Amino acid sequence: MPKKILLDCDPGLDDALALLLAHGDPNIELVGVTTVGGNVGLPQTTRNALALREYLHFEKVAVAAGASQPLSGETRSAIQVHGESGLGTAALPEPILAVDDRHAVDFIIETVRASPGAIHLVATGPLTNIALALQKEPAIARLVASFTIMGGSFTRGNATPAAEFNIYADPAAARMVFDADWQVVMVGLDLTLQATATGPVVERLGRLGVLAHELILPLATFWAGANQSGANQFDAHNSNGHGQAVHDVCAVAHVARPDLFASRPARVRVESTGEFTSGMTVVDFDSPFPNAIVPVTLDVPGFWSYVERVYSIVAEQHA
Ligand code: RIB
Ligand code: CA
Repeated sequence: MPKKILLDCDPGLDDALALLLAHGDPNIELVGVTTVGGNVGLPQTTRNALALREYLHFEKVAVAAGASQPLSGETRSAIQVHGESGLGTAALPEPILAVDDRHAVDFIIETVRASPGAIHLVATGPLTNIALALQKEPAIARLVASFTIMGGSFTRGNATPAAEFNIYADPAAARMVFDADWQVVMVGLDLTLQATATGPVVERLGRLGVLAHELILPLATFWAGANQSGANQFDAHNSNGHGQAVHDVCAVAHVARPDLFASRPARVRVESTGEFTSGMTVVDFDSPFPNAIVPVTLDVPGFWSYVERVYSIVAEQHA
């Protein structure tokens, strides 16, 4: 029975690669996509999700737009990493089909309510939509099958030395999400920086024909290519020096293939007001009151074998 995933995202290079995985894995049913402002503005993240839907032919899946700004504080972006378009140099045709007329928050609530215990909710951008959905309908915390984020870190950040971008972009929302009545699977930088598109990975992905050259390679190498000189603020923490990290892909992979991860329970709290630490996830692995599962180690060969196999399935449809 395929796992049903609702993906809330801010496409985004790695969000797009995560969508590709969720769409391509026969053991996943992508039941919806919701968008949030993050890497680039909401109009652009939504346009990118719609464009990916038509390029990859998952037109039956609804795309609903959500929050354009954080619950409070400054609106952040990561254009330095993802480019103005949000998809680097990937040039997808303009989407024709319209965005769903429901707000992302209502779409999330309706979808989760309609299938109690069946929806794996995954968030790979700032957590604004998730926080608003919890505010409007707290019961969703108990109705989801699981809730997984790409976000946070138990060591250093990437947006600041203390904070990872998705949390930094809306600390108040993240705090609400971690304080809600559910268990959060926090796939953070310490894990995702193990999943980098190294030379051998890029070489194998390059064998996937049209899909590789039109989509996968532009997404998986844009930031690394632009940062040979290590030119920007994200330099030190979107790569382990051996290729671009596919952060968001790890969140979807954890739902589909939890066997690829070793995880630890922890109490995670979000610093939302610190002068230097706003957006920091404070991870206590010793707490007797865990609210999160934190993947710490990735089976890297197993991860890429899985991802490349799924991408090859989609590539055959684009031959
Ligand atoms: O810190 C990495 C995260 O921030 C990823 O989700 C990436 O897409 C950006 O949103
Ligand atoms: Ca993202």
